[in-house]
Amino acid sequence: MFIKSLSLKNFRNYTEENITFLDGVNILTGQNAQGKTNAAEAIFFLCTGYSPRANKDKLVIKNGQDSAEISGVASSLYGDVSVKVNFNKNDKKTIHVNGIQVLKIGEILGNINSVFFNPAELKLVQESPEDRRRFLNISLSQQSKSYFYALQRYNKILSQRNTLLKDPNISIIRETLPIWDEQLCKQAGKIIRARNEFLTKIAPIAKEKHLLLSDGKEVLDLKTESGYYGTEEEIAYALFEDLKTGLDRDLRLGFTGIGPHRDDIKFILNGDDVRVYGSQGQQRTVALSLKLAETETFFARFGEYPILILDDVLSELDKTRQRKLIGAVEHLQTIFTATNIDRTVFKGRAYNKLTVTAGKVKQANK
Ligand SMILES: Nc1ncnc2c1ncn2[C@@H]1O[C@H](COP(=O)(O)OP(=O)(O)OP(=O)(O)O)[C@@H](O)[C@H]1O
Ligand SMILES: [Mg+2]
Repeated sequence: MFIKSLSLKNFRNYTEENITFLDGVNILTGQNAQGKTNAAEAIFFLCTGYSPRANKDKLVIKNGQDSAEISGVASSLYGDVSVKVNFNKNDKKTIHVNGIQVLKIGEILGNINSVFFNPAELKLVQESPEDRRRFLNISLSQQSKSYFYALQRYNKILSQRNTLLKDPNISIIRETLPIWDEQLCKQAGKIIRARNEFLTKIAPIAKEKHLLLSDGKEVLDLKTESGYYGTEEEIAYALFEDLKTGLDRDLRLGFTGIGPHRDDIKFILNGDDVRVYGSQGQQRTVALSLKLAETETFFARFGEYPILILDDVLSELDKTRQRKLIGAVEHLQTIFTATNIDRTVFKGRAYNKLTVTAGKVKQANK
């Protein structure tokens, strides 16, 4: 799949702009603070209905404006698909897919797919388990609406369970909790099962991508620590039992101490934990390998690759890794952003160069 056109209205530093992309490699280039990342961010927004870097929609509306609109057309196996998202400062969001308004936010998922990487994604390797769960949730939600809805329900029930745990009346807790837990575990079963499957698929591919990017020098292994395996029902049952035995702990904590909201992934490079021992470049390569592996899971699921958005990635890698990366993305549409293009790295490869200046984008000659 590849995005053909992107239109922005009052999005970040863009007033009104239309950008045309080609299949293959596209490079948004220009000086700092011109709108390269903003354009890349808008593509991801069109795929998922939210920004990969701002946690509130209103932050991406152009300063001084009340609403913004992003629309775009992508070419897919099944023909062109168009998506339009309109949102305002009061958190009202309207989504159209192929000209028809959809009523649930989740319906935007799976129409145009993308994998987004920017330097902040290093958090995936370096920081909290929450960042790693976010990676799983974003990817799995795009690939399966039922995952997205299970996650929504799970989070809602979890927060109700946590409120109940703080109730001073212990007998109310003991009476009501099993009812909540049954619902909670049903959703947890779906989430954990999907994550287990995803991680089993992605681990060998990430290893292969990492080996390639590191020029055969580094072996990456992924380890998960959910501790729940089997079918959805088996996972739900095991978790239900563990919640029962863990009730005293949860009462003491005042929140639920186990479940998919506590999952984590470990990245092991040549036998050592990358988070503790890895260099910046190695950590970056791990995150990148994971994202490249993620594109393969989209291919396996949908029969076509997602759009790969690589914001500011090249400048952070040495030339060997840059060349390897460019070779590794030949088969899909990639949107790079970069302040300058190193011709020696791109030698012999075709690319579409787009120059970004103060919220205006021009198709440029190479
Ligand atoms: N809501 C907003 N309204 C108006 N302008 C905004 C808004 N949010 C961000 N900007 C502006 O957008 C400009 C460009 O940001 P962007 O992150 O796209 O730059 P860039 O071209 O990727 O630069 P760099 O090379 O430094 O990464 C910034 O100067 C920022 O102030
Ligand atoms: Mg940028």
